[in-house]
Amino acid sequence: MLTARAADRAVYLRSHPVLFALLAATRRRPVLRLGRTVLVHHPEPYREILTRVPLDRTAEHTTGGTAARLTGGGLLFDQSGSEHRGSRRELAALLGSDGIAALRPHWQRALDRLESELADGPVDLVPAVRLLAGATAVALTGSTADPVALAVAAERAAAATARTHLPALLPRPGAERRARRAAGRLTALLPDPRDAMLAVAAVNTTLAALPRAAAWCARAGLWEQARTDAPALAVELLRLTAASPVLPRAAAVDATVLGHRLRRGDRLLLVARHAAEAHRDTPAGDAALAARAPFGLGRHACPGAALARAQLADLLAVLAPHRPRVLRTVAHSRSALPSYRRCLLARRPGAAPCPRSPSP
Ligand code: HEM
Repeated sequence: MLTARAADRAVYLRSHPVLFALLAATRRRPVLRLGRTVLVHHPEPYREILTRVPLDRTAEHTTGGTAARLTGGGLLFDQSGSEHRGSRRELAALLGSDGIAALRPHWQRALDRLESELADGPVDLVPAVRLLAGATAVALTGSTADPVALAVAAERAAAATARTHLPALLPRPGAERRARRAAGRLTALLPDPRDAMLAVAAVNTTLAALPRAAAWCARAGLWEQARTDAPALAVELLRLTAASPVLPRAAAVDATVLGHRLRRGDRLLLVARHAAEAHRDTPAGDAALAARAPFGLGRHACPGAALARAQLADLLAVLAPHRPRVLRTVAHSRSALPSYRRCLLARRPGAAPCPRSPSP
Protein backbone atom coordinates (compact mmCIF):
# COMPACT_ATOMS: atom_id res chain seq x y z
CA MET A 1 0.00 0.00 0.00
CA LEU A 2 1.38 3.40 -1.01
CA THR A 3 2.07 5.87 1.76
CA ALA A 4 0.25 9.19 1.58
CA ARG A 5 3.45 10.98 0.63
CA ALA A 6 4.53 8.51 -2.06
CA ALA A 7 1.06 8.49 -3.62
CA ASP A 8 0.89 12.27 -3.68
CA ARG A 9 4.40 12.56 -5.10
CA ALA A 10 3.34 10.34 -7.99
CA VAL A 11 0.57 12.83 -8.85
CA TYR A 12 3.06 15.69 -8.70
CA LEU A 13 5.51 13.97 -11.05
CA ARG A 14 2.82 12.87 -13.51
CA SER A 15 1.64 16.22 -14.88
CA HIS A 16 5.01 17.60 -16.08
CA PRO A 17 7.40 14.66 -15.56
CA VAL A 18 10.59 16.16 -16.98
CA LEU A 19 10.27 19.57 -15.34
CA PHE A 20 9.23 18.21 -11.95
CA ALA A 21 11.90 15.49 -11.99
CA LEU A 22 14.49 18.22 -12.68
CA LEU A 23 13.14 20.30 -9.81
CA ALA A 24 13.19 17.30 -7.46
CA ALA A 25 16.76 16.44 -8.47
CA THR A 26 18.05 20.00 -7.88
CA ARG A 27 16.11 20.61 -4.66
CA ARG A 28 19.21 20.79 -2.44
CA ARG A 29 20.60 23.80 -4.34
CA PRO A 30 18.89 26.88 -2.80
CA VAL A 31 19.30 28.84 -6.05
CA LEU A 32 20.58 27.30 -9.27
CA ARG A 33 21.29 29.08 -12.56
CA LEU A 34 20.88 27.13 -15.80
CA GLY A 35 21.70 29.66 -18.54
CA ARG A 36 19.11 32.46 -18.30
CA THR A 37 16.80 30.33 -16.15
CA VAL A 38 17.14 30.47 -12.37
CA LEU A 39 15.60 27.75 -10.19
CA VAL A 40 14.72 28.98 -6.70
CA HIS A 41 14.10 26.23 -4.16
CA HIS A 42 14.90 27.62 -0.74
CA PRO A 43 12.24 29.48 1.30
CA GLU A 44 14.44 32.54 1.98
CA PRO A 45 15.32 33.47 -1.63
CA TYR A 46 11.71 32.59 -2.58
CA ARG A 47 10.49 35.13 -0.05
CA GLU A 48 13.13 37.73 -0.99
CA ILE A 49 12.26 37.55 -4.68
CA LEU A 50 8.49 37.71 -4.21
CA THR A 51 8.61 40.53 -1.68
CA ARG A 52 11.64 42.61 -2.71
CA VAL A 53 12.70 42.10 -6.33
CA PRO A 54 10.72 43.95 -9.03
CA LEU A 55 9.29 41.30 -11.37
CA ASP A 56 8.21 41.77 -14.94
CA ARG A 57 4.69 40.47 -14.50
CA THR A 58 3.89 40.59 -18.20
CA ALA A 59 7.05 38.94 -19.59
CA GLU A 60 6.80 36.02 -21.97
CA HIS A 61 6.65 32.59 -20.26
CA THR A 62 5.25 34.00 -17.02
CA THR A 63 1.74 33.34 -15.74
CA GLY A 64 0.73 36.98 -16.19
CA GLY A 65 2.36 37.42 -19.59
CA THR A 66 0.76 34.29 -21.01
CA ALA A 67 -2.68 35.22 -19.71
CA ALA A 68 -2.45 38.75 -21.10
CA ARG A 69 -1.26 37.52 -24.50
CA LEU A 70 -4.00 34.94 -24.90
CA THR A 71 -6.88 37.17 -23.91
CA GLY A 72 -5.89 40.56 -25.27
CA GLY A 73 -4.35 42.13 -22.14
CA GLY A 74 -5.84 44.12 -19.28
CA LEU A 75 -6.28 41.10 -17.02
CA LEU A 76 -6.00 40.63 -13.31
CA PHE A 77 -3.22 38.17 -14.02
CA ASP A 78 -1.15 40.72 -15.88
CA GLN A 79 -0.43 41.71 -12.28
CA SER A 80 0.45 45.35 -12.88
CA GLY A 81 -1.05 48.80 -13.17
CA SER A 82 -3.87 50.68 -11.48
CA GLU A 83 -6.58 48.42 -12.92
CA HIS A 84 -4.93 45.47 -11.23
CA ARG A 85 -4.73 47.30 -7.90
CA GLY A 86 -8.44 48.18 -8.16
CA SER A 87 -9.32 44.55 -8.93
CA ARG A 88 -7.32 43.35 -5.97
CA ARG A 89 -9.15 45.71 -3.62
CA GLU A 90 -12.51 44.44 -4.85
CA LEU A 91 -11.32 40.86 -4.49
CA ALA A 92 -10.01 41.46 -0.98
CA ALA A 93 -13.58 42.40 0.00
CA LEU A 94 -15.17 39.46 -1.84
CA LEU A 95 -12.69 36.99 -0.34
CA GLY A 96 -12.47 38.39 3.20
CA SER A 97 -14.30 36.78 6.12
CA ASP A 98 -17.70 38.33 5.27
CA GLY A 99 -17.29 37.35 1.63
CA ILE A 100 -16.41 33.78 2.60
CA ALA A 101 -19.47 33.56 4.85
CA ALA A 102 -21.64 34.76 1.95
CA LEU A 103 -20.08 32.22 -0.44
CA ARG A 104 -20.29 29.25 1.94
CA PRO A 105 -23.91 28.24 1.14
CA HIS A 106 -22.94 27.93 -2.54
CA TRP A 107 -20.23 25.34 -1.91
CA GLN A 108 -22.07 23.74 1.01
CA ARG A 109 -24.73 22.44 -1.40
CA ALA A 110 -22.03 20.51 -3.27
CA LEU A 111 -20.77 19.08 0.04
CA ASP A 112 -24.27 18.05 1.15
CA ARG A 113 -24.68 16.15 -2.10
CA LEU A 114 -21.28 14.49 -1.66
CA GLU A 115 -22.17 13.39 1.86
CA SER A 116 -25.44 11.77 0.83
CA GLU A 117 -23.71 9.96 -2.07
CA LEU A 118 -21.01 8.69 0.28
CA ALA A 119 -23.61 7.15 2.53
CA ASP A 120 -24.85 5.10 -0.47
CA GLY A 121 -21.51 3.88 -1.88
CA PRO A 122 -18.12 4.94 -3.28
CA VAL A 123 -17.80 8.52 -4.53
CA ASP A 124 -15.40 10.19 -6.92
CA LEU A 125 -14.13 13.36 -5.26
CA VAL A 126 -13.05 14.99 -8.51
CA PRO A 127 -16.52 15.74 -9.94
CA ALA A 128 -17.71 16.67 -6.45
CA VAL A 129 -14.94 19.25 -6.07
CA ARG A 130 -15.50 20.41 -9.67
CA LEU A 131 -19.08 21.24 -8.71
CA LEU A 132 -17.92 22.96 -5.50
CA ALA A 133 -15.33 25.05 -7.37
CA GLY A 134 -17.68 25.84 -10.26
CA ALA A 135 -20.49 26.91 -7.92
CA THR A 136 -18.08 29.17 -6.03
CA ALA A 137 -16.76 30.72 -9.26
CA VAL A 138 -20.32 31.32 -10.51
CA ALA A 139 -21.21 33.04 -7.25
CA LEU A 140 -18.01 35.12 -7.22
CA THR A 141 -18.45 36.38 -10.76
CA GLY A 142 -22.25 36.74 -10.67
CA SER A 143 -22.41 34.51 -13.75
CA THR A 144 -25.45 32.59 -14.95
CA ALA A 145 -23.30 29.82 -16.47
CA ASP A 146 -23.73 26.21 -15.44
CA PRO A 147 -21.16 25.66 -12.62
CA VAL A 148 -19.75 22.43 -14.05
CA ALA A 149 -19.52 23.83 -17.60
CA LEU A 150 -17.73 26.88 -16.23
CA ALA A 151 -15.30 24.76 -14.22
CA VAL A 152 -14.52 22.54 -17.23
CA ALA A 153 -13.89 25.60 -19.44
CA ALA A 154 -11.55 27.03 -16.77
CA GLU A 155 -9.71 23.71 -16.51
CA ARG A 156 -9.24 23.44 -20.27
CA ALA A 157 -8.08 27.04 -20.61
CA ALA A 158 -5.50 26.55 -17.84
CA ALA A 159 -4.26 23.20 -19.16
CA ALA A 160 -3.77 24.57 -22.67
CA THR A 161 -2.10 27.72 -21.35
CA ALA A 162 0.29 25.91 -19.00
CA ARG A 163 1.66 24.04 -22.00
CA THR A 164 2.66 27.33 -23.61
CA HIS A 165 4.50 28.85 -20.65
CA LEU A 166 6.26 26.06 -18.77
CA PRO A 167 9.68 24.92 -20.06
CA ALA A 168 9.59 21.90 -22.40
CA LEU A 169 12.20 19.69 -24.03
CA LEU A 170 10.34 19.38 -27.32
CA PRO A 171 8.44 21.97 -29.38
CA ARG A 172 4.67 21.86 -28.94
CA PRO A 173 3.15 22.45 -32.36
CA GLY A 174 -0.33 23.95 -32.20
CA ALA A 175 -0.13 24.63 -28.44
CA GLU A 176 -0.64 28.38 -28.87
CA ARG A 177 -3.66 27.86 -31.16
CA ARG A 178 -5.25 25.37 -28.72
CA ALA A 179 -4.67 27.76 -25.83
CA ARG A 180 -6.39 30.62 -27.70
CA ARG A 181 -9.33 28.42 -28.55
CA ALA A 182 -9.70 27.25 -24.93
CA ALA A 183 -9.43 30.84 -23.66
CA GLY A 184 -12.12 31.81 -26.20
CA ARG A 185 -14.51 29.14 -24.88
CA LEU A 186 -14.03 30.39 -21.35
CA THR A 187 -14.58 34.05 -22.26
CA ALA A 188 -17.77 33.02 -24.12
CA LEU A 189 -19.08 32.03 -20.66
CA LEU A 190 -17.41 34.88 -18.77
CA PRO A 191 -17.04 37.84 -21.15
CA ASP A 192 -15.15 40.06 -18.66
CA PRO A 193 -11.56 38.77 -18.89
CA ARG A 194 -11.00 39.58 -15.21
CA ASP A 195 -13.82 37.19 -14.28
CA ALA A 196 -12.36 34.59 -16.61
CA MET A 197 -8.96 34.79 -14.96
CA LEU A 198 -10.49 34.69 -11.50
CA ALA A 199 -12.32 31.51 -12.47
CA VAL A 200 -9.08 30.01 -13.82
CA ALA A 201 -7.22 30.87 -10.61
CA ALA A 202 -9.95 29.57 -8.31
CA VAL A 203 -11.10 26.43 -10.12
CA ASN A 204 -7.77 24.88 -11.06
CA THR A 205 -6.10 25.30 -7.70
CA THR A 206 -9.17 24.04 -5.83
CA LEU A 207 -9.53 21.07 -8.11
CA ALA A 208 -5.85 20.23 -7.66
CA ALA A 209 -5.70 20.83 -3.94
CA LEU A 210 -8.85 19.41 -2.37
CA PRO A 211 -8.87 15.84 -3.74
CA ARG A 212 -5.11 15.46 -3.12
CA ALA A 213 -5.47 16.76 0.43
CA ALA A 214 -8.44 14.49 1.19
CA ALA A 215 -6.66 11.45 -0.27
CA TRP A 216 -3.57 12.29 1.83
CA CYS A 217 -5.78 12.53 4.92
CA ALA A 218 -7.36 9.14 4.20
CA ARG A 219 -4.09 7.36 3.42
CA ALA A 220 -2.33 8.81 6.46
CA GLY A 221 -5.26 7.94 8.75
CA LEU A 222 -5.89 11.52 9.88
CA TRP A 223 -9.70 11.40 10.15
CA GLU A 224 -9.73 11.85 13.91
CA GLN A 225 -7.71 15.06 13.53
CA ALA A 226 -10.06 16.12 10.71
CA ARG A 227 -13.00 15.60 13.04
CA THR A 228 -11.54 17.58 15.93
CA ASP A 229 -9.61 20.35 14.15
CA ALA A 230 -10.30 20.45 10.41
CA PRO A 231 -9.10 24.09 9.96
CA ALA A 232 -5.59 23.34 11.31
CA LEU A 233 -5.35 20.11 9.32
CA ALA A 234 -6.44 21.99 6.17
CA VAL A 235 -3.55 24.46 6.54
CA GLU A 236 -1.07 21.60 6.96
CA LEU A 237 -2.43 19.55 4.05
CA LEU A 238 -2.28 22.61 1.78
CA ARG A 239 1.39 22.94 2.72
CA LEU A 240 2.12 19.27 2.11
CA THR A 241 0.40 19.19 -1.27
CA ALA A 242 1.44 22.72 -2.46
CA ALA A 243 -1.09 22.73 -5.27
CA SER A 244 0.57 25.41 -7.41
CA PRO A 245 4.10 24.02 -7.22
CA VAL A 246 6.02 26.37 -9.52
CA LEU A 247 5.59 30.09 -10.16
CA PRO A 248 7.13 31.11 -13.51
CA ARG A 249 8.25 34.73 -13.19
CA ALA A 250 10.85 37.08 -14.76
CA ALA A 251 13.27 39.55 -13.12
CA ALA A 252 12.56 43.16 -14.14
CA VAL A 253 15.93 44.48 -12.88
CA ASP A 254 19.41 43.26 -11.97
CA ALA A 255 19.40 42.21 -8.30
CA THR A 256 21.35 40.23 -5.73
CA VAL A 257 19.39 37.81 -3.58
CA LEU A 258 21.24 36.24 -0.66
CA GLY A 259 24.49 36.40 -2.61
CA HIS A 260 23.03 35.18 -5.91
CA ARG A 261 23.06 37.51 -8.92
CA LEU A 262 19.86 37.89 -10.91
CA ARG A 263 19.92 39.67 -14.24
CA ARG A 264 17.10 41.66 -15.76
CA GLY A 265 15.13 39.33 -18.04
CA ASP A 266 16.18 36.14 -16.22
CA ARG A 267 13.46 33.56 -16.24
CA LEU A 268 12.75 32.57 -12.63
CA LEU A 269 11.17 29.28 -11.64
CA LEU A 270 10.09 29.87 -8.04
CA VAL A 271 9.46 26.45 -6.58
CA ALA A 272 6.60 27.01 -4.14
CA ARG A 273 6.56 23.30 -3.31
CA HIS A 274 10.09 23.43 -1.90
CA ALA A 275 9.64 26.86 -0.30
CA ALA A 276 6.68 25.30 1.54
CA GLU A 277 8.96 22.38 2.50
CA ALA A 278 6.26 20.09 1.19
CA HIS A 279 8.94 17.39 0.86
CA ARG A 280 9.29 17.31 4.69
CA ASP A 281 6.76 16.11 7.25
CA THR A 282 7.71 19.05 9.47
CA PRO A 283 9.36 22.23 8.12
CA ALA A 284 13.03 22.52 9.10
CA GLY A 285 12.85 26.32 8.87
CA ASP A 286 10.19 28.97 9.52
CA ALA A 287 6.89 27.04 9.89
CA ALA A 288 4.72 30.14 9.34
CA LEU A 289 6.57 30.94 6.11
CA ALA A 290 6.17 27.32 4.96
CA ALA A 291 2.41 27.49 5.56
CA ARG A 292 2.06 30.69 3.51
CA ALA A 293 4.47 29.78 0.70
CA PRO A 294 1.98 27.67 -1.37
CA PHE A 295 -0.03 30.86 -1.91
CA GLY A 296 2.88 33.11 -2.95
CA LEU A 297 4.03 36.08 -0.87
CA GLY A 298 4.09 39.84 -1.01
CA ARG A 299 1.79 42.24 -2.85
CA HIS A 300 0.55 39.62 -5.28
CA ALA A 301 0.05 36.78 -2.80
CA CYS A 302 -3.08 34.72 -3.45
CA PRO A 303 -6.21 36.60 -2.32
CA GLY A 304 -8.12 33.29 -2.26
CA ALA A 305 -5.98 31.57 0.43
CA ALA A 306 -8.53 31.95 3.24
CA LEU A 307 -11.31 30.73 0.96
CA ALA A 308 -9.28 27.68 -0.10
CA ARG A 309 -8.52 26.85 3.55
CA ALA A 310 -12.19 27.22 4.51
CA GLN A 311 -13.35 25.00 1.66
CA LEU A 312 -10.85 22.27 2.47
CA ALA A 313 -11.72 22.43 6.18
CA ASP A 314 -15.42 22.03 5.31
CA LEU A 315 -14.68 19.11 2.97
CA LEU A 316 -12.61 17.34 5.65
CA ALA A 317 -15.31 17.96 8.26
CA VAL A 318 -17.95 16.43 5.98
CA LEU A 319 -15.83 13.35 5.24
CA ALA A 320 -14.41 12.77 8.73
CA PRO A 321 -17.38 10.99 10.36
CA HIS A 322 -17.35 8.45 7.52
CA ARG A 323 -13.57 7.85 7.85
CA PRO A 324 -13.37 7.05 4.13
CA ARG A 325 -10.56 5.03 2.62
CA VAL A 326 -9.08 5.52 -0.84
CA LEU A 327 -10.31 2.87 -3.24
CA ARG A 328 -8.49 4.14 -6.31
CA THR A 329 -6.81 7.26 -7.64
CA VAL A 330 -5.81 8.13 -11.21
CA ALA A 331 -3.39 11.01 -11.77
CA HIS A 332 -4.18 13.52 -14.51
CA SER A 333 -1.51 13.74 -17.19
CA ARG A 334 -2.77 16.89 -18.94
CA SER A 335 -4.02 19.21 -16.21
CA ALA A 336 -2.38 22.60 -15.60
CA LEU A 337 -1.53 21.66 -12.01
CA PRO A 338 -0.73 18.24 -10.56
CA SER A 339 -4.20 16.79 -9.98
CA TYR A 340 -6.25 13.63 -9.88
CA ARG A 341 -8.47 12.67 -12.80
CA ARG A 342 -10.31 10.31 -10.44
CA CYS A 343 -10.20 9.94 -6.67
CA LEU A 344 -12.55 7.24 -5.44
CA LEU A 345 -13.33 7.13 -1.74
CA ALA A 346 -15.52 4.65 0.12
CA ARG A 347 -17.00 4.92 3.56
CA ARG A 348 -15.18 2.64 6.00
CA PRO A 349 -17.41 -0.30 6.94
CA GLY A 350 -18.69 0.20 10.45
CA ALA A 351 -17.74 3.90 10.60
CA ALA A 352 -20.34 5.27 12.94
CA PRO A 353 -21.38 8.69 11.73
CA CYS A 354 -20.75 11.01 14.63
CA PRO A 355 -21.61 14.71 14.94
CA ARG A 356 -19.53 16.94 12.70
CA SER A 357 -17.53 19.78 14.26
CA PRO A 358 -19.37 23.00 13.43
CA SER A 359 -17.97 25.04 10.52
CA PRO A 360 -15.89 28.00 11.72
C1 HEM B 1 -5.28 25.70 -2.74
C2 HEM B 1 -5.76 26.70 -3.44
C3 HEM B 1 -4.91 27.82 -4.00
C4 HEM B 1 -3.55 27.92 -4.16
C5 HEM B 1 -2.48 26.89 -3.80
C6 HEM B 1 -3.28 29.21 -4.78
C7 HEM B 1 -2.02 29.68 -5.10
C8 HEM B 1 -1.77 30.90 -5.69
C9 HEM B 1 -0.46 31.40 -6.02
C10 HEM B 1 0.84 30.66 -5.75
C11 HEM B 1 -0.61 32.61 -6.59
C12 HEM B 1 0.50 33.54 -7.11
C13 HEM B 1 0.98 34.44 -5.98
C14 HEM B 1 2.19 35.30 -6.30
O1 HEM B 1 2.43 35.65 -7.48
O2 HEM B 1 2.93 35.65 -5.34
C15 HEM B 1 -2.02 32.89 -6.65
C16 HEM B 1 -2.57 34.03 -7.18
C17 HEM B 1 -3.92 34.26 -7.26
N1 HEM B 1 -4.93 33.48 -6.74
FE1 HEM B 1 -4.72 31.73 -5.77
N2 HEM B 1 -4.47 29.84 -4.98
C18 HEM B 1 -5.49 29.05 -4.52
C19 HEM B 1 -6.84 29.33 -4.52
C20 HEM B 1 -7.40 30.47 -5.02
C21 HEM B 1 -8.81 30.78 -5.00
C22 HEM B 1 -9.88 29.86 -4.39
C23 HEM B 1 -8.96 32.00 -5.60
C24 HEM B 1 -10.19 32.83 -5.86
C25 HEM B 1 -11.37 32.57 -5.40
C26 HEM B 1 -7.65 32.44 -6.02
C27 HEM B 1 -7.39 33.63 -6.68
C28 HEM B 1 -6.13 34.07 -7.03
C29 HEM B 1 -5.90 35.31 -7.76
C30 HEM B 1 -6.96 36.26 -8.27
C31 HEM B 1 -4.51 35.44 -7.89
C32 HEM B 1 -3.74 36.57 -8.58
C33 HEM B 1 -3.33 37.59 -7.54
C34 HEM B 1 -2.56 38.77 -8.14
O3 HEM B 1 -2.08 38.69 -9.27
O4 HEM B 1 -2.42 39.80 -7.47
N3 HEM B 1 -6.73 31.50 -5.64
N4 HEM B 1 -2.71 31.84 -6.07
